[in-house]
Parts: sequence; C-alpha cells; structure tokens
Amino acid sequence: MLQKFLLHAWALSQLLQWLPGSDAASSDFTSACENIASQAASITNTSAFFSNFVPAGTNLTFDNPTCDLAGVPPFQVTLADMCRVSLNVSTSDSSGIIMEAWLPTNWTGRFLSTGNGGLAGCIQYADLAYGAGLGFATVGANNGHNGSSGQAFYEHPEVLKDFVYRSVHTNVIVGKEITKMFYGSAHNFSYYLGCSTGGRQGFKSVQDFPEDFDGVLAGAPGLKFSNLMSWLGRFFNILGTPDSPSFITTDQWLGLIHQNVLKQCDKIDGVEDGIIEDPNLCDYKPEELMCSPGSNSTDCLTPAQVDAVRQVFSPMYDLNGNLLYSKQQPGGENTVWVAPVYTSGQPISFVADWFHYVVYDPSRDVTTLNLTDYQIAEDLNPFNIATFEGNLSDFKSRNGKLMTFHGQADMLVSPADTELYYNYVSRTMGLPPQDMDQFMRLYRISGMSHCFGGDGAWEFGQSLAGAGNDLTAEALDPERNALTALVRWVEEGVAPDTLLGTKYVNDTPSLGVEFSRKHCRYPLRNTYSGVGDSSVAESWSCQ
Ligand SMILES: *[C@@H]1O[C@H](CO)[C@@H](O)[C@H](O)[C@H]1NC(C)=O
Ligand SMILES: *[C@@H]1O[C@H](CO)[C@@H](O)[C@H](O)[C@H]1NC(C)=O
Ligand SMILES: *[C@@H]1O[C@H](CO)[C@@H](O)[C@H](O)[C@H]1NC(C)=O
Ligand SMILES: *[C@@H]1O[C@H](CO)[C@@H](O)[C@H](O)[C@H]1NC(C)=O
Ligand SMILES: *[C@@H]1O[C@H](CO)[C@@H](O)[C@H](O)[C@H]1NC(C)=O
Ligand SMILES: *[C@@H]1O[C@H](CO)[C@@H](O)[C@H](O)[C@H]1NC(C)=O
Ligand SMILES: *[C@@H]1O[C@H](CO)[C@@H](O)[C@H](O)[C@H]1NC(C)=O
Ligand SMILES: *[C@@H]1O[C@H](CO)[C@@H](O)[C@H](O)[C@H]1NC(C)=O
Ligand SMILES: *[C@@H]1O[C@H](CO)[C@@H](O)[C@H](O)[C@H]1NC(C)=O
Repeated sequence: MLQKFLLHAWALSQLLQWLPGSDAASSDFTSACENIASQAASITNTSAFFSNFVPAGTNLTFDNPTCDLAGVPPFQVTLADMCRVSLNVSTSDSSGIIMEAWLPTNWTGRFLSTGNGGLAGCIQYADLAYGAGLGFATVGANNGHNGSSGQAFYEHPEVLKDFVYRSVHTNVIVGKEITKMFYGSAHNFSYYLGCSTGGRQGFKSVQDFPEDFDGVLAGAPGLKFSNLMSWLGRFFNILGTPDSPSFITTDQWLGLIHQNVLKQCDKIDGVEDGIIEDPNLCDYKPEELMCSPGSNSTDCLTPAQVDAVRQVFSPMYDLNGNLLYSKQQPGGENTVWVAPVYTSGQPISFVADWFHYVVYDPSRDVTTLNLTDYQIAEDLNPFNIATFEGNLSDFKSRNGKLMTFHGQADMLVSPADTELYYNYVSRTMGLPPQDMDQFMRLYRISGMSHCFGGDGAWEFGQSLAGAGNDLTAEALDPERNALTALVRWVEEGVAPDTLLGTKYVNDTPSLGVEFSRKHCRYPLRNTYSGVGDSSVAESWSCQ
C-alpha cells in the first residue's frame, strides 16, 4: 500500500531503463549522471562543480566550516541510490548560490526544494537525504553565502537579497531544469519543505512566487523577520547580564519558573502531563513566585525578576504603540533555547549579526539597542523580509496547498505570531476557517520546541529527524507524516484533518512509544474527552 502510494507516479520508461539491480541499467544511470555536469552549463548563469553516482548508505562528508554551529553536521548518510549534482549559479554580478540536486534512481516524478535555518548559508543535507529517500528529485542551496554567520550581508545587498528570497527561487528554477534534463521529462508535482528561516522561505514562495510549488510544508516560520530579531534582542533588554537585578538563571527558568507555569496551567486541558495543549489559555501570573519580605532564596523571585518575567510573556509594541511582535508563550521555558536567548548575558547571535551586518555596522554596540533601533530595523525591512502579505489568492487559485505547523513550546519564534498571520490572511481574503482549510492549514504542535524536540509528541515526519531517522512504512504513513500527507492532499485531494505526533521514550524509536497525540488544525483545539488513557491519541478530539 505504501509502495503503491510512493510509486504510483513513476515514469515506467525510466524505471525500465534504470531498473535497480540490473548492471547495465545502473551503468547507464551512472554515465548519465556523470554527463549531466557538462550539460548543466547550458542552464543560464550556471556551472557545475561535479556530478557523480552515490549509492544508498554512503556517509557523505562536507567542507562547510561553521555550519555545525547552525545545526548542520558536516556529514550525512544517504538513503537512496542517486545522482548527486553540485552547481554554482550566479544571481548578480556580486552574488550567487551554491546548490545541490540529489536525483534518485527511484524517481517518483516529484520535485522537492528545501530551505535553510537562522541566518545560515548551509545546505541542509538531512533534508536532501529525506527527500531523495522518498523518491523526490530534491534540491537545496546555500542561501547565497557560506557558514552560520550573517557577516556576508555587510555592504552586500545582493547577498542579502539572495537570503531574503532569491536563493530559494533560483534554486527552484535551476532545480526544475536540471531535473528535466536528467530524467528526460519534467516533474509532475513540485513541493517545498522547510522550518524556521526555512518556514519563512516557504511563505515567501507562496506570497511572491505562487507558481513555484504545488504543495508547501513550512514550519515555525520566522515571519516579520526584522521584528523577530528585535523581539529576541528585547529579552536581553529585559533580563540583562548576570549582575543585573532582573537577571534570572538558567536553573530558575528550567526549574522554578517552568514548574510554576505548569502548576498554574498544565491542568487547563484536563491532563497533568507537563504539556500545555493551548498556551493561549494560560494567563500566567509570576507574582506567585515573589519572595516573602526578608527571605533570600533562589526558590523565589525578587520584584525586579517578577517584573522581568511579566515582560518576557507580554507582547512587544513599537514607538507608535503598534504591535511589533506577539508575546512569548508560557511553557517553552524548559527548552535548550533558554541559555542562548535568556541567560547568555548578551543578545543572541542572530540579533547581533542582524544589527551589525544589515541594520548598522560591525562597530555598533548591540548591548545598547533600544526601541528606537527596533523601529529603524522594522522600517528598513530589506527586500520585504517581513514576509507578511495577507493575500494568498494567486497560490489558492492555482490550487496550491500550504501546511504550516508551530511548536506551542517554541521560545525562539512565537507560535502566537503564526496564529496572528493565519488570522490576517483570513481577514485579508475574507475567508472563514472552513474556507481557509481548502488551501492553508496551521497545525499547533503542543509541547514541541523550535521545529523539533521538546516534551510533546513532536515526531510527525516534518523532517528526517521527525520521521525517527528511518523511512519505515509506519513513519511514512500520511496520517503521521506531514510530508506524505501534503503529497496526498495535492495529488489525491485528501486533506489532513490532524497530524498524528509521536513521543518516543527518550526520543528513541527503538525504546517504544511514550504517548501519541493527534495535533489539530487551527483554530480547533485539542481537547481531552475526560475518559480513557490520555497518552492515547483517541482520547482527545479537535473542538
Ligand atoms: C559519518 O562520518 C562522520 C565523519 O567522518 C562520522 O563522525 C559519523 O559517525 C559517520 N556516520 C556514520 C553513520 O557512519
Ligand atoms: C527502488 O524501488 C524498488 C521497488 O520498490 C526497491 O526494491 C529498491 O530497493 C529501491 N531502490 C533504492 C535504491 O531505493
Ligand atoms: C561561481 O560562478 C561565478 C560566476 O561565474 C564565479 O565568479 C565564481 O568564482 C564561481 N564560484 C566558485 C566557487 O567557483
Ligand atoms: C543571470 O545573472 C544576471 C546577472 O549576473 C541576472 O541579471 C539575470 O537575471 C540572471 N538570469 C537568470 C535567469 O537568473
Ligand atoms: C507524470 O504523470 C503522468 C500522467 O499521470 C505519467 O504518465 C508520468 O509517468 C508521470 N511522470 C513521472 C516522471 O512520474
Ligand atoms: C562556499 O563553499 C563552496 C563549497 O561548498 C566553495 O566552493 C566556495 O568557494 C565557497 N565560497 C566562499 C565565498 O567561500
Ligand atoms: C542573600 O544571601 C547571600 C548568601 O547566601 C548573600 O550573599 C546576599 O547578600 C543576600 N542578599 C540579601 C538581599 O540579603
Ligand atoms: C535609544 O537610545 C538612543 C541613544 O542613546 C536615544 O537617543 C533614544 O532616545 C533611545 N530611545 C528610546 C525609545 O529610549
Ligand atoms: C488579491 O490578489 C488578487 C490577484 O493578485 C487580486 O485580484 C485581489 O484583488 C487581491 N485581493 C485583495 C483583497 O487585495
């Protein structure tokens, strides 16, 4: 059944020509692969570094200095026999992208473009492996620069332009051409997969290049990007350095404050399981943690600290009193992001880079940024990096499908802001939720941190890690895999009502399932029935 689902769109002629297992066929594939590098030079602005055959199970290594800092390790095990093509595409006289196409022998006729993360110029090889492993002709680009930092943007507007939109769009144009050139026929369906900055890139495509994709899976999108940087910078303004009266230690966030948030809000959804199903319902009151007069302990907070916690969980307004960015949601303050965002005693690196290399210059002291600076950054909005257009009618009318998701315990990009965007699209287009459902669905993933991880049932095929790092039939079931669900929605018209997420014991599939939950699409809320085992998805429903 699964194979039928994955393979029903195969080009039979290609299959016969390259049938795996036949020596002649595989040598044809290998030589076609080796030849594609020279043919690629006929694509506008493109030259090839190399193309070669790579068998499934190969541990590829990459020379991408500093990308490990951006969460991209310098190696990746491949999951399909494929042709790997590496290309250099210029985008202007002073900019260009480095991209790769991973073209599997078992091609399904589908094309997949992948995104990036943070400010990084790093091809996300795990996404390429995932896509190629599922039979997509898969492409990924370096976002117009190399490495984890945003330094390349400084005094190079064309490089910044690549980061804002042109890398992904160019990657798609060239990627579709190389796919057609290699297989001898164009793709039948085109898809996108990305999270965080990759989520924003997916929304940028939907907003400005609606023809690029039939289906887009864009998670935890960094929309209103400049404001997101300012919001992250504001946490330093609120909390300060370790010697500041408002400073709160990592241990206090992870322990004292998180436990108090749970004490006040965990049971709102009817189940005391450490997961706040809908943080919108949590009106957290940090005053409960105030030290009694005269007491001196790390098990309570001073008035200055309580005030800081209140500010952290409050929306951010600009100098004109307009909302600059949504509030931090309570519940994520026990994740790995606490240290870099709240307690490092300096603005997180993205913020420093954004103000050093885009808004101002490297000499700017980023520890003194204030609302005036955040207003300047908002007004700058280079190349419309805000990515906040509410009219998606071109994408809707070409029958495009957009699936987005957001961890409700994400403290790096506020899940409240993605709801705000959903509602903005709804108002701009004049569509109630049942009509939004025809082309755009937002799934709220309770207890998930930024793109993956956390206490919630966070594995639902949103990435290779989200598929348990293993392409088993179960992991690819469209009921529990956002990517194959998107394919089914686009190609068969079956829209996913829920995404079945799994929490494995110690996040290790071989240790078994700890609990499952069917994540609902906004504005529906996952609700415990009050009877039955709450660790079983069927004990909950979307209301
Ligand atoms: C792949 O190679 C890297 C670097 O040589 C190594 O650290 C990693 O463990 C290897 N992975 C596997 C699965 O062999
Ligand atoms: C290609 O698909 C066939 C049929 O499903 C399968 O037996 C084979 O293992 C696949 N080969 C690769 C390299 O993925
Ligand atoms: C990529 O192509 C451009 C334009 O032809 C060229 O200037 C640049 O040196 C190339 N980059 C690499 C790494 O070869
Ligand atoms: C090719 O590059 C030039 C500048 O180097 C640019 O103006 C042009 O738009 C590019 N063509 C395509 C198809 O991207
Ligand atoms: C694309 O779809 C057509 C029509 O369904 C089919 O004949 C063809 O094999 C598909 N192409 C590929 C590459 O799967
Ligand atoms: C970026 O990395 C590629 C290899 O992936 C390399 O060919 C290129 O020279 C690098 N560009 C710069 C500007 O360092
Ligand atoms: C709290 O106690 C610590 C040592 O336990 C001490 O250094 C500090 O001065 C005390 N603070 C106040 C406000 O009493
Ligand atoms: C921000 O700091 C600058 C420089 O010190 C100052 O001129 C400005 O008034 C400050 N803005 C706000 C909103 O405090
Ligand atoms: C949305 O865009 C479409 C086509 O681009 C246009 O016809 C329509 O008037 C726009 N709707 C709104 C509300 O601006």
